[in-house]
Amino acid sequence: MFFSCLFDYIDFTGFLLVFFLFLLLKYIITDKNPPCFPPGPWPLPFMGNIFTGLDFRTIDKLAEEYGDVFSLRWGSEKIVFISGYKMVKEALVIQLDSFADRPSNVPMFDQILNGTGLIISNGYLWKMQRKFANSHLRNFNKGLRGLELIIQEESVYLCDAFKEEQGPFDPQLLLSSAVSNIISSLVFGHRFEYHDKQFQNILQLDSEAIFLSGLTRTQLYNVFPRLFNFVPGPHQKMFANYSKVLEFLNDEINKHKEDLDSSNPRDYIDAYLVEMEKRKSDPEAGFNFDTLLSATLDFFEAGTETSATTLCWGLLFMMKYPEIQRKVQAEIDRVIGHSRLPSMTDRPNMPYTDAVIHETQRLGNIVPLGAPKRACKDTMLGGYFIPKGTTITTSLSSVLKDKNEWETPGSFNPGHFLDEKGQFRKRDAFLPFSAGKRVCLGEQLARMELFLFFTSLLQHFTLTPGPGEKLSLEGQLGFTYAPISYHINVNLR
Ligand code: HEM
Repeated sequence: MFFSCLFDYIDFTGFLLVFFLFLLLKYIITDKNPPCFPPGPWPLPFMGNIFTGLDFRTIDKLAEEYGDVFSLRWGSEKIVFISGYKMVKEALVIQLDSFADRPSNVPMFDQILNGTGLIISNGYLWKMQRKFANSHLRNFNKGLRGLELIIQEESVYLCDAFKEEQGPFDPQLLLSSAVSNIISSLVFGHRFEYHDKQFQNILQLDSEAIFLSGLTRTQLYNVFPRLFNFVPGPHQKMFANYSKVLEFLNDEINKHKEDLDSSNPRDYIDAYLVEMEKRKSDPEAGFNFDTLLSATLDFFEAGTETSATTLCWGLLFMMKYPEIQRKVQAEIDRVIGHSRLPSMTDRPNMPYTDAVIHETQRLGNIVPLGAPKRACKDTMLGGYFIPKGTTITTSLSSVLKDKNEWETPGSFNPGHFLDEKGQFRKRDAFLPFSAGKRVCLGEQLARMELFLFFTSLLQHFTLTPGPGEKLSLEGQLGFTYAPISYHINVNLR
């Protein structure tokens, strides 16, 4: 009745205009920011700031303009960005209960993982899954010493594979294979040969999927999931890759089910299957097949790409700065020599090498925007009001390059981690693993991997760039920030 009366006065174009103005008014009224909400660039109606990239360089630039706490809008979702050591520490450490959750109902995660797993879960389920994973990491193979032995053994395979290379080569895949074998030992109870075609293929599919997931164009799926289900683009390739990776993990889990001996769990999957039986009366803890599949993928994703990318940066920095490489090798020769494997007991005696690895993580900046979180309650931060449910992103990049914390934030300077006597010094703003309740679960394991693999390689080889190699320190951004692929020459020492 209302519309037929309206048509008596205006034509169809006029009707569309009125309808649009009505939607616009509704949008302006219902989507209005609350008082004291963090400032940010003006959002377009309905779309928000989707034309503003979500890469760390853009975010760090916007922080210079709008301050350490600012906001963007993606579609109808408001995202608050937190930058600089002081503010990130305030959010993650001082107000640790306010920002301990992950955003829920993220369309991309729902599509890939059914919304389950360790990394993206919250509340009781997350607590139980994290506790279980933590205790597996601590107790697997007699604890950290057992893990150290596995890494040492793998470093021998890695050095052998480097030796076999004829001429310059891209080390990325070998480093990923070595690092993922540590996770494979933990999760599947065995490693894979570096020439295992099926496993290499899975690693490549997974690495590509992680890269695609970080692209702004892929993130658009989260804004318009229904529409983007039918639109071609990088998100489709990412989903296709994930479904193959999950199929592979599914097969591994099924093999474990077939020969499970509950009294003698061999690895994470076995231990999890046993826990599923024990926890039958507590479904809220989420010990079921879906969560096992997602948590296995979590281990792989979180544990492979990160450490391998850091090692890729490490080798690149050593080629770029040969005098630093020589100093590391001199320390290795003095403390370890050439007749035995590096071990974790060497680290306290190797402050320079330790500083170089820390500086690699700082300048490598491999997870520049951390992992997204959600405000669990209404919170005040830096004088701004952040309502419960708002998505939060902490710029770890801005912390690792904070001008107030680092003497030469833009250069590779191991001196950042050395005192005047040349001894190792810890730095508060060193947060590549983030901080607070969601701090990286694998920090200790990763630090062990970085030390043992890095020192083993430099104990055996002098690294030089392949012919004509430019060695760019500009990385490429997916979910992690990785060096542009390069070719390396390894000369036996
Ligand atoms: C150099 C290597 C690594 C770096 C730089 C790194 C960094 C990070 C960062 C920044 C986060 C997000 C923390 C947050 O939300 O505040 C994270 C989470 C996580 N990492 Fe790592 N990580 C590394 C290696 C590993 C390894 C080897 C594992 C395997 C055990 C692992 C397992 C995890 C898990 C399970 C989470 C999610 C924790 C949760 O949501 O409760 N990471 N990591």
